[in-house]
Amino acid sequence: MKKVLFVCLGNICRSPLAEGIARDYIASRGYEIIVDSAGTSGYHIDETPHHYSILVAKKFGIDISMLRGSKVSVYMNFDFFVAMDSENVRDLIALGVDRDKIVKIGDYGLDGRDIPDPYYKGLDGFFEAFELLDISVKKFLDLISEEK
Ligand code: 4NP
Repeated sequence: MKKVLFVCLGNICRSPLAEGIARDYIASRGYEIIVDSAGTSGYHIDETPHHYSILVAKKFGIDISMLRGSKVSVYMNFDFFVAMDSENVRDLIALGVDRDKIVKIGDYGLDGRDIPDPYYKGLDGFFEAFELLDISVKKFLDLISEEK
């Protein structure tokens, strides 16, 4: 069973959205993949996702209100650490995560672009993050579900 950790800076905006989209899609496709999310910072440990992330996910029928913030540890046992942007990639390397396990979600259907951090933006920024993640997360899960 593959294990995937979605990673952003705070683990309250983008990576909880990615985790929610992934959980919903995995259930609908019957994939055997375990997913979780975490932040490269410890700013929001044990906090709920940002209220705009909860709201946007809910608009698409996905409940992420039960998720809680956590910080990435190099000792976490995942096959993939899936970064939202290039800064997350650099931070994961600095934390000592195995480079072979780090991928950037924008490399799946988004021509390598970053998922912009919506933290200092309004609701539109969260919708944009959802739309980009809805494309890329599903593409990534389809691909790894085919790998043996
Ligand atoms: P996220 O957004 O990395 O998508 O969860 C952020 C959340 C909090 C902060 C930065 C980005 N912060 O600086 O507290």
